Amino acid sequence: MNSTTIITIAIATLAVLGLGGVLTASRRADIKGVGSLSRETKKRDRNAAKVARNSTRDAESQGAVSRNAVAVMPPPEIETWVAPDAEALGESRRAFLNRATVTLMSASLGGFAAALIAFLWKGAEGGFGSKINAGKIDDVIGQIRSGGGFLYLPEARSWITEYPKEAIAKAEVVYGNQGAVFTGMNAGVVALYQKCPHLGCRVPECSSSQWFECPCHGSQYNRVGEKKGGPAPRGMDRFGVSVDNGMLVIDTGTVFGGPPIGTNTTGQEAEGPNCVGASGDH
Ligand code: FES
Repeated sequence: MNSTTIITIAIATLAVLGLGGVLTASRRADIKGVGSLSRETKKRDRNAAKVARNSTRDAESQGAVSRNAVAVMPPPEIETWVAPDAEALGESRRAFLNRATVTLMSASLGGFAAALIAFLWKGAEGGFGSKINAGKIDDVIGQIRSGGGFLYLPEARSWITEYPKEAIAKAEVVYGNQGAVFTGMNAGVVALYQKCPHLGCRVPECSSSQWFECPCHGSQYNRVGEKKGGPAPRGMDRFGVSVDNGMLVIDTGTVFGGPPIGTNTTGQEAEGPNCVGASGDH
């Protein structure tokens, strides 16, 4: 092999090696370009990072400010005190007093109405002022006798005593015009109002004299309520009675006036010492 051939081979070899180097460098540049960012991209990334850091610093700064901030409240509104109007105050007091007066009057009227209704209701149910069932007539007479000649019925405000049958003829003359009273006498009883016809005291019985003798001024009445002494203007007032199916009923709704002074249908005189001294007629 001559030197020319050798030089040619050497040049060809160098050419091949140079071409391989160029291809390799180009390939590296391609590979390097795929995994790296361009300059503009890096610049944008740096700007974005800077903006993010600034935002973070701003947020932290605002948080610190809000943590350190002291709430400042607006000053409270204070109304200026104004003295009340004396005239308006007087009007208010008057209105209050008027309302209180009306309320008290209403309450009083209400109480009175309730009491009145209760009173009337009681009368309707059989209290004083209505017909009162005293029980069997035989039992009533038995109680009179066991009571020493007198039976007091508080619900009728009455004394019940016996009327002697032998005096019925005289009774008819005096009491015949008081039908319900005479009916009771025929049945053997009288119902005498406890109220003294003089001045209204309650007249008690006197067991020793067997009369009624008023302690207030000394009026005296025999056992059937005919006046025997004292200032009373008449005998004891009385109630009509009826006997229904053997039951004695006293009608306290009607008061019959007592017999005139001097009436003495039974002829009963004091059967013992008097309980009070008669003060004399006046
Ligand atoms: S009230 Fe009975 S005698 Fe005067």
